[in-house]
Amino acid sequence: MATEGREIDRGEWSSKVGFILAAAGSAIGLGNIWRFPYVTGQNGGAAFLILYLVCVLLIGVPVMIAELTIGRYSRKNPVGAFGAIKPGSWWKIVGYLGVLTGVCILSYYTVMAGYTIGYIVKTLIGNETSFSAFTSNGRLAIPLFLLFSVLTVLVVQGGIRNGIERWAKILMPLLLLLLVLLIIRSVTLEGAGRGLAFYFKPDFGKVTGKTVLAALGQAFFSLSLGMGAMITYGSYLSKRDNIVTSGCYVALFDTMIAVMAGLIIFPALFAMNMNPAEGPGLVFEVLPRIFPQLPAGNIIGAAFFLLLSIAALTSTISLLEVATAYLVDEKHWLRRRAVWIVAGLSFCLGLPSALSQGIVPALAELPLPGGGSFLGFMDWLFANVMLAVGAILISIFFGWVWKMKAAAEEIRTGNPRVGRLLLVLDIMLRFVCPILILVVLVYLFISV
Ligand code: PHE
Repeated sequence: MATEGREIDRGEWSSKVGFILAAAGSAIGLGNIWRFPYVTGQNGGAAFLILYLVCVLLIGVPVMIAELTIGRYSRKNPVGAFGAIKPGSWWKIVGYLGVLTGVCILSYYTVMAGYTIGYIVKTLIGNETSFSAFTSNGRLAIPLFLLFSVLTVLVVQGGIRNGIERWAKILMPLLLLLLVLLIIRSVTLEGAGRGLAFYFKPDFGKVTGKTVLAALGQAFFSLSLGMGAMITYGSYLSKRDNIVTSGCYVALFDTMIAVMAGLIIFPALFAMNMNPAEGPGLVFEVLPRIFPQLPAGNIIGAAFFLLLSIAALTSTISLLEVATAYLVDEKHWLRRRAVWIVAGLSFCLGLPSALSQGIVPALAELPLPGGGSFLGFMDWLFANVMLAVGAILISIFFGWVWKMKAAAEEIRTGNPRVGRLLLVLDIMLRFVCPILILVVLVYLFISV
């Protein structure tokens, strides 16, 4: 088989901007707009925001650069990447774990993403059904789940430039525009000031161990780290591009969007005298009660859920791409076949999650961590546990197995003046990241 030919077949981002938009598209999703505000609300606001920013900087950015470097050096999916750097070692298992985690996160993430599409129409027509009544309606939830799965497949099937990159280039700027419009609306509401104070004036008295851990978990999920999504996206990165600045831009955009989502939600919440610690239902339960009180509220509301669907789509694309790249690279499958089969598998796996939101009551009361529902359990197991396990293994692999000495050449390609930054990165990946992540994992298990 002509190796050269296969290299060209894999595809590459057409430009640095194309890569940044696609990778930011992966990072920016339900994690930023739905999960970040409710976790911030539950953990006391401003103090959590500061801790979150520290986690992104200390752990998120180094792991992001490690993943991108592994990907671009090997030009492979996560399984192939570990195999290429340490042939014949068990490190390949980290790649398999990533592929598995990607398919499993995709399965329930798409269920949630389906709700956001439903909410576009629901909000537009002013339907007032509660969130739980909506999710327990099987005739809505399942077709929406299927619709979102098919949308994801259609984009990923198009490949790197014509699929993922082209859509990210259209969708990401649109998302930014909608966010800015909603922020302006929200902060100009009467009573918005208290929301801004909650969000920006820290009260460190409220910080506990749990707050720190929530911040770190949110950082992995939001930056798409720990399952090889960034290894895969890095594998399509051109050798001319600067890995360090590209990675920093992605982390910066992701963080910016999360902070902006908070700027929409908290001022509006406080203006309505509502409880910021409402929990996972925050976006779906509280906002639809706020929109009707705004001028042209149903249009603003529909725009908000449209934005949430767009953000979710650019994330499901990357979740599907990891397993797809594995099958295309390692098993030499045609992209089209790989995409449909993986998505089909993930759809079947997602059905119990979709059914666990009120359609089949037994699936909502399981004796498992994550709140009791099957979806909650999947989120706990794969987003909390597996991403942290993946991230710790990736930083150990980079720092202690591949080692900075070998990796430095790849980082310098496209970035000849990286200099002393490599030393900082080395210390972070060898000591700071593994130790801090270990603390999270130990805590996760003792707190189950
Ligand atoms: N980062 C995405 C979000 O915030 C979710 C995601 C996690 C995507 C892991 C890919 C990999 O919604």
